Amino acid sequence: MQLAGHSFLVTGGASGLGAACAVRFHAAGASVIAADRDAAKGEAIASQLGERAAFVETDVTDPDSVQAAIDAASRLGPLRGVVNCAGILDGARIVGREGPHDLEMFARVVNVNLVGTFNVLRLAAAAMAALPPVGDDGERGVIINTASVAAFEGQIGQAAYAASKGGVASMTLPAARELAKLGIRVVAIAPGIFETAMMQAALESVRESLAGQTVFPPRFGDPREFAALAQHVIENPMLNGAVLRLDGAVRMAAR
Ligand SMILES: NC(=O)c1ccc[n+]([C@@H]2O[C@H](COP(=O)([O-])OP(=O)(O)OC[C@H]3O[C@@H](n4cnc5c(N)ncnc54)[C@H](O)[C@@H]3O)[C@@H](O)[C@H]2O)c1
Repeated sequence: MQLAGHSFLVTGGASGLGAACAVRFHAAGASVIAADRDAAKGEAIASQLGERAAFVETDVTDPDSVQAAIDAASRLGPLRGVVNCAGILDGARIVGREGPHDLEMFARVVNVNLVGTFNVLRLAAAAMAALPPVGDDGERGVIINTASVAAFEGQIGQAAYAASKGGVASMTLPAARELAKLGIRVVAIAPGIFETAMMQAALESVRESLAGQTVFPPRFGDPREFAALAQHVIENPMLNGAVLRLDGAVRMAAR
């Protein structure tokens, strides 16, 4: 799928990995909707990009809100791709000093990271299904979901986050299998540790530990490296149904 001349929706597009995708896709000639809860940061990205870009205040867990973002993207051109980067990080021990894990927090993390991702996937796929196929392979669109290495080696305190990202990883293949008949590919990227607002909020001791566990290069990932892979996924039609680790060989320890 080509970026130029097509429209792309990036959830979580106001910050971090999503913002890097919005900037890169736009530079490659795409029209971009940054969809995010954070209006201040989202408007700033959209005005930095200018023409062919807009921000839509969106809550990925809300069907009407996501449909409005998809409609806005479709007004800029045929919606040929989505990158799902909206997500939250929260954690607690299952049995901590203050008692059992807060159930509401577990549900909130799963709701935003997993249910929100699925909500965008289903509505975007329906919009793409109505488009004519393009190219030699008859593609209609590409959907990229953001998992995490925590889907595979979640740390102590990450039961909720790991469960949410495990769900994102696990739905990749069934979604790719089902949407194949529509010419829609589905790929997940499982990042290691990237330098974004999410990780900047972590304790310095946690940051140092995680950077030290990244084998090579021994540093946090740059969001532009995530965006480069997302662009490649969009452009390479053989990438489908896979969960791609982008992680400098990090294998997170139990704590
Ligand atoms: N940074 C990392 O190290 C890392 C590693 C693995 C996975 N991830 C995942 O990558 C994705 C992007 O994270 P990031 O690091 O860029 O973090 P970030 O905090 O910089 O960006 C996340 C964005 O999602 C938005 N968001 C949160 N809830 C939302 C909702 N309900 N509706 C719409 N927008 C919402 C936030 O406002 C924010 O702008 C997340 O899914 C995260 O779990 C990040």
